[in-house]
Amino acid sequence: MCVLLKARLSVLLLTSCLFIVACINTEKPLLINKAVAKKILFSRNKGNCLACHVIAEGKLAGNIGPELKNISHKFKNKKQLRQFIWNASTFNPKTAMPPFGKNKILSAEEIDLIVNYLWKI
Ligand code: HEC
Repeated sequence: MCVLLKARLSVLLLTSCLFIVACINTEKPLLINKAVAKKILFSRNKGNCLACHVIAEGKLAGNIGPELKNISHKFKNKKQLRQFIWNASTFNPKTAMPPFGKNKILSAEEIDLIVNYLWKI
């Protein structure tokens, strides 16, 4: 085998490996997390956030609360958004929004997933 061909093959092999590693490390988990977060937000037996909020890609949304968009501009940081979803009544004692964390409607992990998702929409 000529040297040039060998070199080309190794470069090809190396780039394929890097591509596979990149897919395993980042893209897949991100896609999965997005899908899981959407499921938590949209499912009636999970967050059921659509009962009160318009959320992009969600169907048959209610209008009791504001549309969930530009969320990163409305909260100081993710921690504050998390606190809001955990127990909105600490921000507004008369809120209609259920305290998803305090009342264990969603688990801490589920809330983390939706916080990360909402931060980007
Ligand atoms: C029963 C109705 C109801 C449900 C269900 C509900 N919310 Fe809310 N939400 C509200 C209301 C009403 C507000 C407006 C602020 C207030 O009254 O406290 C609000 C405000 C918000 C805000 C602040 C938005 C802004 O623009 O200031 C976020 C974020 C939010 N809700 C997330 C969620 C998420 C995530 C879920 C599902 C896990 C959810 N809400 C489910 C009623 C609801």
